[in-house]
Amino acid sequence: MKQHILVIGACGQIGTELTLKLRQLFGNENVIASDIHPGNQEIMQSGLFLNLDATDATAVKELLISHKITQVYMMAAMLSATAEKIPMKAWDLNMTALLNILELGREGLYNQVFWPSSIGAFGPTSPKEHTPQNTLMSPTTVYGISKYTGELWCQYYANRYGLDVRTVRYPGLISYKAQPGGGTTDYAVEIYFEALKANKYTCFLSENATLPMMYMDDAIRATYTLMAQPKMAVYKAYNIAGMSLNPKEMSKSIQKQLPDFSISYQPDFRQAIAESWPKSIDDSEAKADWNWKPEFDLDRMTKVMLAHCK
Ligand code: SER
Repeated sequence: MKQHILVIGACGQIGTELTLKLRQLFGNENVIASDIHPGNQEIMQSGLFLNLDATDATAVKELLISHKITQVYMMAAMLSATAEKIPMKAWDLNMTALLNILELGREGLYNQVFWPSSIGAFGPTSPKEHTPQNTLMSPTTVYGISKYTGELWCQYYANRYGLDVRTVRYPGLISYKAQPGGGTTDYAVEIYFEALKANKYTCFLSENATLPMMYMDDAIRATYTLMAQPKMAVYKAYNIAGMSLNPKEMSKSIQKQLPDFSISYQPDFRQAIAESWPKSIDDSEAKADWNWKPEFDLDRMTKVMLAHCK
């Protein structure tokens, strides 16, 4: 079937690369980028861009109908660190945007929707190492609470209304085309830009703050691969793993290419967020159910990042 795809939040860190990849796969004319802010040149020039507030249900509905949308990627969200500063706004954006799109799916206005969850959905009581697909989840950040609750809502719409909704729990994502904003894992992008600009970086997490991370190409491939699977019998917010990294290991990888690069540490409130999250993720169900496999390790990613972050 020919897809008419809408990406909501297309100008964010994930949305930017996801939109460009979907345009490559399905044709520029079949992938609409929408966001509350315009994006980079590549997004704006490669296909249609529409200004859209993801919390405005009427506007989202009109767009779905007027463009005969079949598939939606609902990527608009506030990340963990910003969300801790304005919890009610974060809750409102993250939940309203999701519930709007789920309701429009129940009304039959599209066939399939992707909604991203995160390692942030886990909390301090979840196992830290190889955190399983199904385990105790008790997130302590408003971002995490919105992700965990969002997973439950997706499951509810799948079970009760048969909605085809799909989810992965992204690790911290590392990319150069669009920068992240307001996340706890943002240091892993900043470090490359600062390495090239100043040859040094002051990290807001401590040297041993190990977190699950992934290069963006792997995350995007996971996303469209999951969406291409036949409809699944049960909704799962799939764990996916790439690498498990801390700032010290990242700096060592950079030093292999830039021997004079130096790093110092000034942990702030984001350290506590990082400490509440897993260190590594068990993604065996994604591997078994849809052959998930990451391709990038730390040194390969560092080479690509240092070549492009200039
Ligand atoms: N990268 C996100 C954040 O740090 C986690 O999903 O908020």
